[in-house]
Order: sequence, then structure tokens, then C-alpha cells
Amino acid sequence: MQPLQTTSLRVVDNHLFILDQQALPQQKQWLPASTVEELVGHIHALRVRGAPLIGLSASLLLALLAEQGANRDQLAQALETLRAARPTAVNLMNNLDRMKRALTQEHFVAALTAEALRLIDEDKQLCDNIAVAGSALVTPGSRLLTHCNTGGLATAGVGTALGVIALAHQQGNVANVWVDETRPLLQGGRLTAWELGELGVPYQLITDSMAASLMAKGLVDAVWVGADRIAANGDVANKIGTYSLAVLAKFHHVPFYVAAPQTTLDPHCPNGDAIPIEQRAAGEVTGVAGSFGAVNWAPENAAVYNPAFDVTPAALISGWVLDSGVVTPSDVANGIFQLH
Ligand code: MRU
Repeated sequence: MQPLQTTSLRVVDNHLFILDQQALPQQKQWLPASTVEELVGHIHALRVRGAPLIGLSASLLLALLAEQGANRDQLAQALETLRAARPTAVNLMNNLDRMKRALTQEHFVAALTAEALRLIDEDKQLCDNIAVAGSALVTPGSRLLTHCNTGGLATAGVGTALGVIALAHQQGNVANVWVDETRPLLQGGRLTAWELGELGVPYQLITDSMAASLMAKGLVDAVWVGADRIAANGDVANKIGTYSLAVLAKFHHVPFYVAAPQTTLDPHCPNGDAIPIEQRAAGEVTGVAGSFGAVNWAPENAAVYNPAFDVTPAALISGWVLDSGVVTPSDVANGIFQLH
């Protein structure tokens, strides 16, 4: 495969490398992801994360394994193992469905490579289209609030919600971005703050519990978040804490936008109740660990509940900003996300 470089994926000499998103922002280190076990380990540890990126990394690895001589059965097995790496973001399943079709082709090695590269190129274009559609909704002087990380780190392109914010900033319309730190794994505090800094976008980091008082004071003009899965009725699974923001936004009459590519749509999933929600390890809640070190503050063996995502009901969403344009609540009520 030709050499390839995105913000957080790299192919060099036919091998996949990932930018370790657990080490950022203190360290910028690239790690090999040469085997299924290695990549699944990175995905479990959130060294590779973000709905689009998970699917793209898995697709690239499959193509590289094919080029290295894996046979059809081995690739089919690898595909199923990768598909099970994380349950909530549907981009992984959607991308791997396309790779599975490529695997049935007579010249499956070439077909898998072509499909993986197509997915990367498409994702870049999807991000650009989302940014254009979304930035049109950002009014001059906007103070925007975002959650988790939806930028170039999480995609092959400029990102989803963060791509909208970056373009709106270039257009001169962003006064400030409130960045939720995003407990428990701090994707906002570590990754979004870093990306906005690199882009020169003005931001202020807040703890998740500060959003309510900011909205009450009239300091938030809109909330922009990404998505891990959009169900047929418009319900959205995204990083834990998204739902509370949507409730707050509704109460304070602040528009709440979800930005996502078509690879995040799941028309087979009727509503949010049917979206599988990943449960994660207790240690993520009882302490924090990263390149800055590790600390535990809870009592030893404290009982913990740690869902990685929550579901925001469609009724709380002002607009679904897709690569195809802005979907309104009445579009959703008319079944735009349903199978036809
Ligand atoms: O657990 P993570 O960090 O993979 O969760 C990421 C999110 O929830 C993002 O908002 C979502 O994947 C969209 S990324 C463009």
C-alpha cells in the first residue's frame, strides 16, 4: 500500500502506526498496530478512538494483512474480531461491512486495499462537507460548547463537530469555545484543548459540571457534539455526558447540534434503547491514568458504574448536521433516517 498519513493514522512500509491518544498532549508517540491483537488492544485502551477513526483503522489493517499474504479465511476471522472491538460506534460495523464485500471479490487483495483507501478519502470529504453545512449555522461572535473529542484525531479529516467549529473560526464567527473536560477519560481536557490550541481557536477548559451555570448566565450560544450512532428515530449515542448537556440546552433554550457523517447512521436500529452501550473498567472512575502518571482516589474496591456512552433522545436535538446537509426535527419526524 502507498504511504499514508492522517492526524492519527500512518502507513509506512506496509505497516500501520497509530498516534497514541492516551499519551497526548504530553507525548506525541506513534505505536505499531501490525496485528489484530495489537489494534484491538489499542482500541480497548482508547489509544485509537473516535467513531470514524476506529472503523478506518480496522479497515486499513485488514487491507495491510491481505497485502502481507493472509488468506480469505484468516481475513474473515480478523474482520469479525475487529468488528467486536467496541460495541457502540456503528462506523466500525458500517466500514467492515464494506470490507467484507471487498473480501468476496476474486482479486480480494486489491479490492480490500482500494476499499480501505476509499474509506479514508471519503471520510475526509464527509468531514469537509459537515464543516461547510455546520458552519452556516454559527452566528458571528458565537460562544460554543463542545464535549469529548470530535476533531482530526477522531477522523481522517478535519473532524465532525470540531471541524464545524474550526471552519466557523476561520470565518471569524467564533468568540470562544467552552471545552468540557469529559470525565472519566478526559478526551476534552487532553485532546480537544490540544487540537483547538494547535488550530489557534480561543477556548476555555471547564469541568463537565460547569456547563449548567454557564448556560444560566447566557454564556453559551450553541452546543456542538459528535455521535457514535444515530438510530432510525434520530436518537443519538455519544460520549457519556452528552445527554445531560442536551437536557440543559433544552431548559436554557440553547440550540443543540449533532455533527456526524453518514457512516454513523444506523437505519436498522429503531431507537436509542436498541443501541448497545459499552461498559468500561472501574479504574477509569476511581482514578485517572495517562502519560502524566496514575492516581486512585476512591476507596479500594469501591463499587463503580461506568457506561462509556449515553443516548440523547431526538426530541432534545435542534439539528443533525450531516455531510449531506442539515437534517431538521421535522425531517426526522418524517422518517428521513428510516429504511425505505
Ligand atoms: O470513547 P471515545 O473517545 O471513542 O468517544 C468518542 C465520542 O463519543 C465522539 O464524540 C464520537 O465518537 C464522534 S468522533 C468524530
